[in-house]
Amino acid sequence: MASNVPKKYEKLVVGGKRLDGRKLDELRPTKIEVGIIPSADGSAYVEVGKTKVMAAVHGPREMFPRHMMNEDRAVLNVRYAMLPFSTSDRIRPGPSRRSNEISKVARHALESVIFLEEYPTMGINLTLDVIQADAGTRATAITAGAVALAHAGIPMKGLVAATAIGKINGKLAVDLDGPEDNFGDTDMPFAMVSTNKDITLLQMDGDFTPDEFKEALSMAKKAIEPIFEEQRKALLRYHE
Ligand code: CDP
Repeated sequence: MASNVPKKYEKLVVGGKRLDGRKLDELRPTKIEVGIIPSADGSAYVEVGKTKVMAAVHGPREMFPRHMMNEDRAVLNVRYAMLPFSTSDRIRPGPSRRSNEISKVARHALESVIFLEEYPTMGINLTLDVIQADAGTRATAITAGAVALAHAGIPMKGLVAATAIGKINGKLAVDLDGPEDNFGDTDMPFAMVSTNKDITLLQMDGDFTPDEFKEALSMAKKAIEPIFEEQRKALLRYHE
């Protein structure tokens, strides 16, 4: 556990329940909406607990800057940002090392499911804006990005959803919230493809024993299924 833990966060699991009342394998309430940005070719809004992300897709369209163009396939450009008001400490606008890293891992998490070869020379721009952050912003952004790409009508091999598995007070737990991320021991963001179950993101901050790691992976795979369901429902609702 991190040092200087406020008293109220010393015990993150009490009687098998977490401080917000969730069970260890329970996701935060998740809400997905499609088509919230009419000027974009595709868009989605995803809320996971207090974490809120908006995703917008522009493209496929002519690639800019042209030197980034690929003759054989489309280029997916992802820009993740935390909006200045998304945390209690104002976030400085503009790219940072962290936002560059998350943009890159989000691109890797999503591009393998897109039939990029169907759009040679073109560019697809995906912006992922965190409106409110309470841990799990990269996971929520990836979940939102996949829905926005599908909403844009871009042919995909499947959806991608993400969550994080962590260790809090020595216990494995699904989808850490802010205090759990800050004062817990381990955080492992994870993304998976709905169809072939390929894993497209796996990062880890902290430590797991080999057995905990296996258990964490299996918890992540199980936890993600209801997120796929919410993604599908949101897309169907939009097309009703
Ligand atoms: O958001 P995610 O869990 O993917 O990434 P992180 O770098 O592990 O950040 C965890 C959480 O710390 C974020 O979701 C925010 O709630 C908070 N954070 C913050 O308040 N200010 C920052 N500059 C970065 C992160």
